[in-house]
Amino acid sequence: MHFLHVVGARPNFMKVAPLTHALAARPGVRQTLVHTGQHYDQNMSDVFFRELEIPEPDFNLAVGSGTHAEQTGQIMLRFEPVVVEQKPDWVLVYGDVNSTIAAALVCAKLQIPVAHVEAGLRSFDRRMPEEINRVLTDQLADLLFTPSADGDQNLLREGVPRERIHFVGNVMIDTLVRLLPKTAATLPPELPERYALVTLHRPSNVDDLSGLKSLLDALTAIGATLPIIFPVHPRTRQKIAELGFRHSSNLRLWEPQSYLQFLALQQKATIVITDSGGIQEETTFLGVPCLTLRDTTERPVTVTEGTNIMIGRDMNLLCREVEAVLRGERKNGGIPPLWDGRAAERIAQILEAKG
Ligand code: UD1
Repeated sequence: MHFLHVVGARPNFMKVAPLTHALAARPGVRQTLVHTGQHYDQNMSDVFFRELEIPEPDFNLAVGSGTHAEQTGQIMLRFEPVVVEQKPDWVLVYGDVNSTIAAALVCAKLQIPVAHVEAGLRSFDRRMPEEINRVLTDQLADLLFTPSADGDQNLLREGVPRERIHFVGNVMIDTLVRLLPKTAATLPPELPERYALVTLHRPSNVDDLSGLKSLLDALTAIGATLPIIFPVHPRTRQKIAELGFRHSSNLRLWEPQSYLQFLALQQKATIVITDSGGIQEETTFLGVPCLTLRDTTERPVTVTEGTNIMIGRDMNLLCREVEAVLRGERKNGGIPPLWDGRAAERIAQILEAKG
C-alpha cells in the first residue's frame, strides 16, 4: 500500500513522525512525504525533522508565507500534480493548519481517499482559522482518527458516518513518550530554579498591537517574582518589533526552541503560559500547570481531566493563578484515555486493514 503524508507547519511534525515509524515497520508499505513549506525557517522546520527522525521529504512545495488565500491556494496548485503523479492509496493529513485543508480539498476533488489524523477537535469559535480548517477537513475526510472521545461526539453531531470515525488516542503524545528520555541533555545551563515558560502566536493575541502590549506588560509584572522564558514565534517577533516594546531582563525572549529543548523546558517549568493547542496537551501529560490565554479550547479534556486552566484575556486572573501556583495551590490532573504512546500503532493497524 502506498501512503502519502502531507505536512507543512511545526505542529504537524510531531504528529507525522510516529506514523512514518509505525508504517515503516510493516511489510508491503510504501510511503511518500510531502512538505508544503508553510514553515520554512531552520528552527521552525529542519531541526524537527532531525530530532524526530522523520525521513527527508520526497517533495518540498516551498510555498512560504502569505495571506490565507495565497498560502492555501499555492499549496493546492503545487500539491495537485504531485498527488496525481504519485497515485497513493491514501493521503494522510495532520492537525488543523492551512496545509491540512489545502491537501484534503485537492484529494477530495480527485477522489483520492484522505485520512485525517487529529480529527474532531472543536473550539466552536469560527474566528479561528484553524477551526475552519478542522470543520472542513473533517467533512472531506474518508477516515477520521480522533485523539479524545469528545472528538467522536463532535463528528457524529456534524453527520460524519460512525464507521469513518476511530478513537485512537493522541499521536503527539506518542512522540513525547518516545523522546522524553532524551530531553535531559538539552537543558540550557543558565536555567533558573523556578520559571514560567511562555509561548504566544495566535493572531487573536498578537496581531492587535494594543492587546499584545497589555499581555507583555502583564508578563513583565509576573517576571518580577518568577522569571519568564519566552521562545518567540516569528509571527510574534515581528509584532513585538512593530510595537517597539523594550523588554526587561525578567522577560527572556529566546529564539524558537527545538522539539527536545522545548520539551525539556516544559518538563522543568513551574508553570506554562500559552495560546498553543499542542502545549495544552503536552503539559497535561507532564502534569505541569498550564494557563491558556484563550477564551475557548478545542482540547477540553486538558481542562476536565488535565492541568489546563482557561484564562482568556483577563490579566488579573492570569496574575492570580500564577500566585496560586507559587503558593503551592496547583490544579492536579490525570492523563486522558489512550494518551499512551501507541496511537500511531493503532492508526497503522486500521489503515493496514483497509488494504
Ligand atoms: C500556523 C498555523 C497554526 C499553528 C502554527 C504553529 C495555520 C492557519 N496556522 O500559524 O495553527 O499553531 O502554525 O506555529 O495554518 N514565519 C516565518 N518563518 C516560518 C514560518 C512563519 O518567519 O518558518 C512567519 C511569516 O512571517 C508568516 C508568519 O510567521 O507570515 C505566520 O506564519 P503562518 O504559517 O502563516 O502561520 P502561523 O502563525 O505560524
